[in-house]
Amino acid sequence: MLTCHVTLDPAFIIAPVERRLFGSFIEHMGRCVYGGVFEPNHPESDPDGLRRDVVDLTKELGITVVRYPGGNFVSGYRWEDGVGPAAERPVRLDLAWRSIETNAFGLAEFMTWCERANVEPMMAINLGTRGIQEACDLVEYANHPGGTYWSDLRAEHGHPKPYAIKLWCLGNEMDGSWQIGHKDAGAYGTLATECAKAMRLVDPTIRLVLCGSSSAAMPTFGSWETTALDYAFDYVDYISLHSYFEPIGDDVASYLASAHGMDSFIDGVIATADHIAAKKHSPRKLQLSFDEWNVWYTQRFAGRNNAEWESAPRLIEDEYTVRDAVVVGNLLMTLLRHADRIGIACLAQLVNVIAPIRAEPDEPAWRQTTFYPFALTARYAQGDVLRLEIDTPRYETKQYGGVPLTDVVATRDAHSGAVAIFAVNRSQTESTLLQVAFGGLSGVHVVEHITYGGDHPAATNNQSQPMLAVPQASEVENRNPEDCTVTLPPESWNLIRLSTASTNFGRGGGI
Ligand code: AHR
Repeated sequence: MLTCHVTLDPAFIIAPVERRLFGSFIEHMGRCVYGGVFEPNHPESDPDGLRRDVVDLTKELGITVVRYPGGNFVSGYRWEDGVGPAAERPVRLDLAWRSIETNAFGLAEFMTWCERANVEPMMAINLGTRGIQEACDLVEYANHPGGTYWSDLRAEHGHPKPYAIKLWCLGNEMDGSWQIGHKDAGAYGTLATECAKAMRLVDPTIRLVLCGSSSAAMPTFGSWETTALDYAFDYVDYISLHSYFEPIGDDVASYLASAHGMDSFIDGVIATADHIAAKKHSPRKLQLSFDEWNVWYTQRFAGRNNAEWESAPRLIEDEYTVRDAVVVGNLLMTLLRHADRIGIACLAQLVNVIAPIRAEPDEPAWRQTTFYPFALTARYAQGDVLRLEIDTPRYETKQYGGVPLTDVVATRDAHSGAVAIFAVNRSQTESTLLQVAFGGLSGVHVVEHITYGGDHPAATNNQSQPMLAVPQASEVENRNPEDCTVTLPPESWNLIRLSTASTNFGRGGGI
């Protein structure tokens, strides 16, 4: 059996757990909006056509912030099409996904949905086919109190109170040639900067996200960030990262180390942002917005080039395995470990489209495997992320070279004393004995060990058997006053919960 040791010390803190790390994404794509969050004819829908079962699962998942309306979709979107009386809204071609867009769902419906799901909205503006004026008009419509054309129109549409949307993305994946209105880094940096300045004139309280690279594999990765930030650094609050992971051929070993790839990507963006800060003599540590991340089997998606035009076609409804869930759980651990620099993260997407929640007409919504590690992390990662030294064997991967066999992240809430340890065993064949030394913690009690994985990595949940693969309660090998040991099965994601004496160690707050 493999072994791994970690020591918890409540004084070693990376940063508080940022609740916005538990974000997601709703795009007008496939059946994410229509047939996902919005389906007026579904028996579970409320009078606004919003599916209550999807809202309930969104809450159970622990989602805090939701990015909208795209994605590639936003780069051809006219936001005005989605406001006002639904019967008067135009039907349009959505060129990004070769779909028919009815505009039955728009800003007002999204904001109502956010309220029901208790999540914060994060709006993306179109910097593909549109620009500064349309972006300012949207901020005025959404956030200005009243007495102007756009804010009065909002009131006329039934919303006198401003929506007060704080988070705004300056376009989507503008580095990608597939993007409608794609630009080079200089053109994008200039436009995003001018847009940011003008949007802030409308509402100085907004927070802005600059588009970074749409993946670390882009040939322009690094130079795109350098150029765009050279223009926009002083005018934005975040730079975005997007990354999707999937197994390449039968290289499971590399796939299980996807979080290692995410980690390098994050380090690269931080290095670039800090380089620009140094160049500009700025002390600012720019925050990152990892606003699209997930497992996505892109190789199974043929694209939409010659497809029939239809409304809400079934697009990339990947069915996830337990192995995928282990990878997703590990990716979320990486985001947590970078809580000092990542201010927002969005699991892409929320419903049906590469999503943890699946919804079918006339049927109750159900949870994919990837739902579980996300929901458990969002629920139990509280307080501060602890800095750990992990003593673990390593293994060789084709994609990333040598990587740790075991990954561990821990959080501790100084007020309640609750500790959550998230651990992944990347070995496909061997269990790992994880020894957790309690270090500076006192009054420790092991509450539970939950395991996801071990047997049947290819198992999935589905419409007829939605609870086939669920996390299991597991043994705690040894419980001592100074440490405990648990077994991490091969290819597993684990949560070990401890209760400890509550302190405000390191926070200057006393007991
Ligand atoms: O989430 C699916 C797509 O992936 C988004 O529209 C785009 O931003 C990314 O390439």
